[in-house]
Amino acid sequence: MGLNEGVTSTSSFSVSFSADDVSALRADLGGAGFAVDAVDRLWGEEAAAALHRGYRAPAERALAAALPSSGGSGAPRPLATLATLFVLGLPVGEAAARAAFPALGLEGAIRLSLVSLAGGRVTPRLDLRPYSFADALGTGSWWIASDLGELALGHAIPENHVLGVGGASMTLSGLIMPRAIGSVLDLGTGCGIQALHASRFAKRVVATDISERALELAGFNAALNGITSIELRLGSLFEPVAGERFDRIVSNPPFVITPRVEGVPSYEYRDGGLVGDALVEQVMVGAAAHLEPGGIAQMLGNWEYRTESDAFSRVATWLDRTELDAWVIEREVQDAALYAETWIRDAGTRPGTPEFDSLYTAWLDDFAARGVSSVGFGYLTLRRPASPSAPRLRRFERIGTALGSGLGDHLASTIDAWDWLAGHDDAALAEARFDVAGDVTEERHYWPGDENPAVITLRQGGGFAREVHAGTALAAVVGACDGELPLGVIAGAVAHLLEVDGGELLAEVTPSIRDLVLTGFLNPVTA
Ligand SMILES: C[S@@+](CC[C@H](N)C(=O)[O-])C[C@H]1O[C@@H](n2cnc3c(N)ncnc32)[C@H](O)[C@@H]1O
Repeated sequence: MGLNEGVTSTSSFSVSFSADDVSALRADLGGAGFAVDAVDRLWGEEAAAALHRGYRAPAERALAAALPSSGGSGAPRPLATLATLFVLGLPVGEAAARAAFPALGLEGAIRLSLVSLAGGRVTPRLDLRPYSFADALGTGSWWIASDLGELALGHAIPENHVLGVGGASMTLSGLIMPRAIGSVLDLGTGCGIQALHASRFAKRVVATDISERALELAGFNAALNGITSIELRLGSLFEPVAGERFDRIVSNPPFVITPRVEGVPSYEYRDGGLVGDALVEQVMVGAAAHLEPGGIAQMLGNWEYRTESDAFSRVATWLDRTELDAWVIEREVQDAALYAETWIRDAGTRPGTPEFDSLYTAWLDDFAARGVSSVGFGYLTLRRPASPSAPRLRRFERIGTALGSGLGDHLASTIDAWDWLAGHDDAALAEARFDVAGDVTEERHYWPGDENPAVITLRQGGGFAREVHAGTALAAVVGACDGELPLGVIAGAVAHLLEVDGGELLAEVTPSIRDLVLTGFLNPVTA
């Protein structure tokens, strides 16, 4: 980012650019209709999909076909110029660039380090693209600047690369609990995407990073999108917030496990510089000292499966050093070789090259040294209990389904349900009334000719789309939960129908009812 007139200043990290330049840029991007749908329409669905896979030729061809020399109409529109420069990462002619920045001017775009000009060619220096989202407050769109990727550079990215919005970024942003809060810490903010999302629910966001360049881009993105509640701080892990506590911590930390040997690049955007999964351990354990009572940390991480232990038991030993509630969800596990291939390729080193082979050996040696057979990836929800005497939440589970949107709300409801359950012993549960959640359906499968179902499945439409196999008694009890009758009364009636003992049936279904409440199949009626 070009640093010129000082404008945005924070307590510990200052970003300098002209506010006038940024608002002129905003006017130009808006005026050109530089939005996700418009850019996709520009080159069509197939080209957009190819681009997503890392190939830009179809998009280039679609744009070229629209030019006058190919029978298209008129000069490239500003939208096509902006998309060519900042999404495809390709140069454009000076006249087209001038037409794309009517308010900012080409000189302004150069001042902001968006482009450079040489010999009548204007070359992009940043990736800048529209981004749209939906959360509990509605839909929205921003423009997000980050460093040019491998495709635009034509070679592997440098070690200080600042990442744009990737799959992991969107996974975490989709998990952010949409509850109004006072303060949020975004640790390892990169281009600032989590801080921007968090600013929708929080009065104040502190965004930290070890990379000055990342903070410059995060500050630029906040300014470009008119967000003023984000404070930037430079430093490693919790150093910049020593002695401070937050209502929420969000972090997509640099969790990629990387060999610590000469010749292996250490990419700031993904590698925290520690051995194995120690970075994830440090962020998790460190969060405890920076959460307000009742405050919640939401983060992503990798954890190693070592020969002598299951990854969850290692994560549990990290958590045991804290008083935190913890809900750990593992979404996928990659074997050591696949993990190495994924991350070597991710930075732009191509298979079949000597560089790839030597990095591959380094990765496999590193895993072998710790007896690592595979690596898990998932999401962590950690909470500093509001009261030290409250029962501890420790839930570890493997959920392989891809995430839908709106999971943040589901996570928040699950934590609420945990608290509700903790306050209701079995006797109180029997007196409580429940509603079946609106997204729950029941499937029954019969052996041909049989009048009793062989399998009954309760299926959740939202949340983690869980399915639960229920016996006849549990299915009957759940089916009768209409918010009117207490659980104990329903269990008694079902026992009567099935000609079994009411107390025994209630005791049998109670653990399952607890699980169904926790996972959102049943909602307690509190009024
Ligand atoms: C995976 S990126 C996440 C970026 C962004 N928050 C997102 O969700 O897309 C991790 C970020 O952590 C930063 N980082 C690396 N080491 C760090 C450290 N020791 N302390 C704080 N941040 C660090 C990197 O510079 C990078 O911006």
